[in-house]
Amino acid sequence: MNAVLSRRPAFAPMQPEEVDAVLAIEQRAYPFPWSRANFADSLASGYSAWTCRIAGDLAGYAVMMLVLDEAHLLNVTVAPDWQRQGYGRLVMQHLFEVARSHEAKRMFLEVRPTNAPGLGLYGKLGFVTIGRRRGYYPAGAGREDAVVMVLTL
Ligand SMILES: CC(C)(COP(=O)(O)OP(=O)(O)OC[C@H]1O[C@@H](n2cnc3c(N)ncnc32)[C@H](O)[C@@H]1OP(=O)(O)O)[C@@H](O)C(=O)NCCC(=O)NCCS
Repeated sequence: MNAVLSRRPAFAPMQPEEVDAVLAIEQRAYPFPWSRANFADSLASGYSAWTCRIAGDLAGYAVMMLVLDEAHLLNVTVAPDWQRQGYGRLVMQHLFEVARSHEAKRMFLEVRPTNAPGLGLYGKLGFVTIGRRRGYYPAGAGREDAVVMVLTL
């Protein structure tokens, strides 16, 4: 049995009281993390927000917006201690199931062209690049473009 199957993650809707723990991971995982308000607003807006726990430990989370037949991935993160063990793929597959159950036909996302783990994960899952948004992200010096990707669900 491989490491992933022996430690199966549990997914649950993100709760407001989990935002502190989510934020602690967010700040370790990104040079430009989401703020507390970004998570609070996402929950208040009713976005599809999920936690991924392994034996109770918060290992990751994701936020997605469902609009008509489209899903927009806003955040997917695996805690640094749990990365490269297959959980990012499982979090994404959970989102695909949720999106399909809401009749979504496609999932869109933006990713930094310098984010090799993100690009690797999305490419493995079948996302294709459909465009670029100029200066979309804050960056060390100025702004960084976003690569726009889509997957047919
Ligand atoms: C991107 C992220 C969610 C991937 O999660 P993960 O649990 O490490 O990914 P997995 O172990 O499921 O890996 C799945 C695939 O992603 C790719 N990948 C993951 N980490 C990678 C890395 N460091 N470099 C290159 N490719 C990587 C690989 O293609 C991998 O498949 P493989 O293991 O068969 O080679 C995680 O690195 C993360 O949270 N990063 C910080 C936050 C972030 O950048 N989120 C995405 C924003 S767009």
